[in-house]
Amino acid sequence: MSTSTSLTALQVMQDAPVIPVIVLQDVAHAVPMARALVAGGVRMLEITLRTPQALACMERIAAEVPEAVVGAGTVRSAADAAAAAKAGARFSVSPGYTSTVGRACKDVGLALLPGVATGSEIMMAQEDGYTELKFFPAMQAGGPAMLKAWSGPFFDVRFCPTGGVTQANAAELLALPNVVCVGGSWLVPQDAMEAGDWARITALAAQTQALRKA
Ligand code: 3PG
Repeated sequence: MSTSTSLTALQVMQDAPVIPVIVLQDVAHAVPMARALVAGGVRMLEITLRTPQALACMERIAAEVPEAVVGAGTVRSAADAAAAAKAGARFSVSPGYTSTVGRACKDVGLALLPGVATGSEIMMAQEDGYTELKFFPAMQAGGPAMLKAWSGPFFDVRFCPTGGVTQANAAELLALPNVVCVGGSWLVPQDAMEAGDWARITALAAQTQALRKA
């Protein structure tokens, strides 16, 4: 996965059952954290743009962990998309959707999983050519029942539910035909990173392999 060929959102979603949502407070954690996830079979890493260190963390992982694919999360503007691409991100995830962000990601060659929580947002993303979407915040905004309701009118859209997803409820979401993968922060607990407990992160990642869709 070290090549810089462009990825599609579907490829990002199909690589593993769970895309980890990662908040990095310390640049020194970036590389061991990424290696720990890769050791557990999780290569698509969503590094959220929520801390001042996020871009530096992406650069480190892109340079030092070639088995990982760096993604940027919390992309909310064209500037975020440009900065993420420059830092080595190859895909992006947004908590909501605007055409500005959609265009910016295309301009810099980043696959995008746009965040949606309503039918109108799905239609706006579809108008701009996006059919693989993040449902956020999934469990707070209707969970599996919402995904079932959307499968009628939005029969051609596939989702990555994120927000309130855990190892316990992921299987129910992944059993739905319009769900390709889920996203969640539970694979990378802050206390494990602070303690340097990389084995725990590898174990949490490895557990998610049992969620693989048939
Ligand atoms: C987020 O963007 O914070 C993600 O949705 C993660 O949510 P979670 O912490 O509930 O997994």
